Amino acid sequence: MIYLDYAATTPMSEKAINVYSQVATEYYGNSSSLHDMGLAAQTILEESRKTIAGFFNGEAKGVYFTSGGSESNYFAIHSLLKGNNKKGKHIISTKLEHSSIANTLEDLQKDGYEITFVPVNTEGRVELEALSEAIRPDTVLASIHHGNSEIGTIQDLVAIGEILKKHDIIFHSDCVQTFGKIEIDVKKANLDSISVSSHKIYGPKGVGACYINPSRTWQPVIPGTTHENSFRPGTVNVPGIAAFITAAEEVLPIMDVEQERFQGLRRKLVDGIQGDAWKISEVGPSSKRLEHIIGLSIAGIEGQYIMLECNRYGVAISTGSACAVGMQKPSKTLLAIGKSKEEAKQFIRLSLGKLTTDAEIEETIDIFQRFLKKYFNDL
Ligand SMILES: Cc1ncc(COP(=O)(O)O)c(C=O)c1O
Repeated sequence: MIYLDYAATTPMSEKAINVYSQVATEYYGNSSSLHDMGLAAQTILEESRKTIAGFFNGEAKGVYFTSGGSESNYFAIHSLLKGNNKKGKHIISTKLEHSSIANTLEDLQKDGYEITFVPVNTEGRVELEALSEAIRPDTVLASIHHGNSEIGTIQDLVAIGEILKKHDIIFHSDCVQTFGKIEIDVKKANLDSISVSSHKIYGPKGVGACYINPSRTWQPVIPGTTHENSFRPGTVNVPGIAAFITAAEEVLPIMDVEQERFQGLRRKLVDGIQGDAWKISEVGPSSKRLEHIIGLSIAGIEGQYIMLECNRYGVAISTGSACAVGMQKPSKTLLAIGKSKEEAKQFIRLSLGKLTTDAEIEETIDIFQRFLKKYFNDL
């Protein structure tokens, strides 16, 4: 099978698997235990905290390891709101957030929070003027993701952070799709909190981290929590965290080179699947985008059909965010950038990764050409 769904998840790197196995067999002590085996696990944990903080220019004491991006988003937003409940009950966000944020915000409305969703332009980028206009005296927090999982749009976090800082609004950003792909600098962007996930960068599933600016106050979501400085309950997954850090150490030094390589593969793929009898459009921005996330629509064919045909021919692609699959709803991202329901249903996403080769792209082009010719001649 040709795997072109790296934005959904990635295979673990060999090094990460080896580190997981070694730490799980040799350093299996509970990192909270007071004996030497606990201490050995704790040493690995604290080293990991320091290393990951360095990757986004944060401080080790602001890092909390979690079970992944979804949990990081949930805990970050709730912990920060609990710690800052005097300022007000107004939150700013977008319609493009991952379901873990969208659902958290929906739930918060039941507790009296008001949410303003700032509009995005046709490329999926937050309109800065609209953001400024959305700010109220009672705005306590803004949650705006960094990179879109469906069309790859990169938000200008530095410009957004500048606006929010002037009003002392807590700035949370879901960086799950950008960590290990492009630079994240929490200080440069005035970020108060971010979420990252291991399985998007060749680390194990069920591991992630949340960073909270240590100068911000927050309160534990679950009373009586002791692990991770009261941020998240549960025995800490030290082998998973060590493997996550190993995976991050592998991808971060080569992320620029990889984005450049993906740009070439993307061009080749998009050009190669065009045909005289059909029209393929790239959905999303033409610059300031994650080059490995390729949003496409083919006029007249539902994305679901293309995905199933690709699967039949041995290519794994997606019709959008994996977390929305099964709901049979048109992509929220596509609707937010002004596409109709019909257009949104035509959407497919191909996402490239470190194992994607030229040969795989050529084979994918052949497969698309084969079934598209059949489909359009059959009409
Ligand atoms: C933007 C974004 N945020 C959060 C998540 C959830 O991360 P996890 O699977 O680690 O919970 C995803 C995963 O698809 C994502 O794309």
